[in-house]
Amino acid sequence: MQLAGMIPPPVLAQVQESLSSGMWADSKHVHELEEAFAKYIGVKFCRAVSNGTTALVAMVCAAGLKAGDEVIVPSFSFIASANCLLAAGAKPKFVDIDAATFNLDPSHISKAITPKTKAILPVHLYGLCADMDPIREIAEKHHLVVLEDACQAHGAIYKGKKAGNLSLAGGFSLYPTKNMICGGEGGLVTTNDEAFINKVRLYVNHGQAAKYTHTALGFNFRLHEVAGVVAKYSLSVLDENNRKRAVIAKQYSEELGKVSQIKIPTIPTGRTHVFHQYTIRAQRRDQLAEHLQNNDIGYGIHYGIPIHMQPFYKNMGNIPSLPVSEQVAKEVISLPVHPFLTVEQVDFVIATIKAFYS
Ligand SMILES: Cc1ncc(COP(=O)(O)O)c(C=O)c1O
Repeated sequence: MQLAGMIPPPVLAQVQESLSSGMWADSKHVHELEEAFAKYIGVKFCRAVSNGTTALVAMVCAAGLKAGDEVIVPSFSFIASANCLLAAGAKPKFVDIDAATFNLDPSHISKAITPKTKAILPVHLYGLCADMDPIREIAEKHHLVVLEDACQAHGAIYKGKKAGNLSLAGGFSLYPTKNMICGGEGGLVTTNDEAFINKVRLYVNHGQAAKYTHTALGFNFRLHEVAGVVAKYSLSVLDENNRKRAVIAKQYSEELGKVSQIKIPTIPTGRTHVFHQYTIRAQRRDQLAEHLQNNDIGYGIHYGIPIHMQPFYKNMGNIPSLPVSEQVAKEVISLPVHPFLTVEQVDFVIATIKAFYS
């Protein structure tokens, strides 16, 4: 966990103050967080919400997606990228990814478009932005909405603009393992569109236009104040922590790039990777994972089952064939990359991996 035990005393004092104030729900600190995050991303508006999933659900509903609509989305992602569509009654139309970037492959999008297609939902997986120029071009041509799943991409840049400012709206997660956290569960929605943010604001607060006057469907997806305090702090150290992650990633890539059984992450020109995960493709992945575990090295498999192959989705039928997603799911393994790792610890991981393949 990024900040466990590392929240500085002045921030803890603010947490205490906020608890003592009795103003626990969606007040001063949450509004300051919204303002600071909008400024950081470079957008006009931000709404803090209860987690990344509710951020995506609110975006999908505010975009007017509904039963019968199809939305193009990668299958190689966390399940919430697709479940948020089902929450609105819309249908995920899974499209394959580019094996080098793990992101939606724009060359597969056009052939997945039908008269029912209404939107594209790229995911900036592991902290690297999807290739947004061709995605937006296809969307414009077919009059589709683009929404970003930026849950793993706080601070990631695509051609000078940050994730969350590359489409109609971006959704972020503040889950404890993310690059930006809030001392619990939290999320954020960003946009430049005032009408859109007003719909999000209504949706996440019971559709309440004035006290106990409800003008639209909505639920309670609000963020609480203590989360606002911690998230403001986490935002203030986000760039510094992202830089540390990039240094660790470079250390891994310089050495692991020499191992023929491994493919290291690619960073295309014009993109800044924030390394929410440092994920490699490895031959004999499962044996490597066991070897890491035997050496007390934590690792993650993000994700061993693409969404279209998950039992829940398979039961719905119409299972597409997505060869790249299915292949990389067998090869990916994420190495420790949190900003508090030492050079020696990273060296130990590298040496352990090299020993496995030698
Ligand atoms: C790509 C992606 N989308 C959506 C989510 C959902 O975020 P949360 O766990 O905060 O609901 C996550 C979080 O794990 C994620 O990684």
